[in-house]
Amino acid sequence: MPKIAVLPGDGIGQEIMPQALRVLKHVVKNLPDWECTECIVGGAAIDLVGKALPEETLKVCKKSDAILLGAVGGPKWDNLPGPERPEMAALLGLRKAFGLYANIRPVKMMPFLLDASPLKRERVENVDMIIVRELSSGLYFGEKGRKTDPPSGYDVMIYSEEEVRRILHVGFKTAQARSKRLCSVDKANVLETSRFWREIANDVAKEYPDVQLSHMYADNAGMQLVLHPSQFDVMVTDNTFGDLLSDIASVLGGSIGMLSSASLGNNIGLYEPAHGSAPDIAGQNIANPLAMIISVASMFRHSFARHDIADKIEQAIDQVFAAGYRTGDIAKPGDQVLGTKEMGDAVLAALA
Ligand code: IPM
Ligand code: MG
Repeated sequence: MPKIAVLPGDGIGQEIMPQALRVLKHVVKNLPDWECTECIVGGAAIDLVGKALPEETLKVCKKSDAILLGAVGGPKWDNLPGPERPEMAALLGLRKAFGLYANIRPVKMMPFLLDASPLKRERVENVDMIIVRELSSGLYFGEKGRKTDPPSGYDVMIYSEEEVRRILHVGFKTAQARSKRLCSVDKANVLETSRFWREIANDVAKEYPDVQLSHMYADNAGMQLVLHPSQFDVMVTDNTFGDLLSDIASVLGGSIGMLSSASLGNNIGLYEPAHGSAPDIAGQNIANPLAMIISVASMFRHSFARHDIADKIEQAIDQVFAAGYRTGDIAKPGDQVLGTKEMGDAVLAALA
């Protein structure tokens, strides 16, 4: 029986997850064995049990095939010590606990949203790319701390050969299934970890003679994403650069509210929107639930190989757009602006 752990979390996570669950329940209605278990996580869990990633939540996740996560964090918990903050304790905690080393962030320009992009139409109309971000090592997970004399703070950036190899394999395999072009992004002009990464990339490339590997510096990659984004097909990069570059890439498609993210390891997959908990708009029924709904589609694709169901959900979203419905973040004058719940209604209606 497929089991899914459902972790709405904080802020708009509480609003977008119910819409994603309605979609999920609708598409599996003929599959009575699907089991969803809702758990607390993030600031909501700190408030209830004093910990952002409670044991009980971890236990449920461990017994599941996939995890759906809304978002965690918010101003209420910003002053906690780093390791106790929802982002670190819950999100990074889950990534570490389940060995989720590969983060897949697809950025595709949907024709209906061309005018929602901050860039000119001709720059973005052919954008269809995947960012493969290393997710369980590097700067995020190296030793970190403070020193007193003189006062300083540090985060150690370290990558093992195994960590670099396995993410590059994901990059090459992803490219192999698409255009057979892989762009590895680093900062090899400055960082030793990047020079190490580049050497390994060139070595792994020998196993994929059909894939054309190129290298690009991260700062240039940021610029190229804005100047000429359609040159990219699959980009593979480390944890920090992947974080920055995927936020930049997300707005090409109109809004970060459309960007979903699949975090994969050897076993359980975690699916979440790439945006955060957006405390500034939480509780107003205006958040875009589509990245969360697309995350459900992504779960069907990656964790359950149910491409049929994933396609169905994505087609329903296309239909909603074709009918002129938008949430505020992607609306242009003349569009019909829907709230979070009403966008859920529209997707369900398109699925029916
Ligand atoms: C992301 C987010 C997280 C990250 C934060 C919330 C810790 O920005 O998933 O991109 O930096 O990885
Ligand atoms: Mg980010």
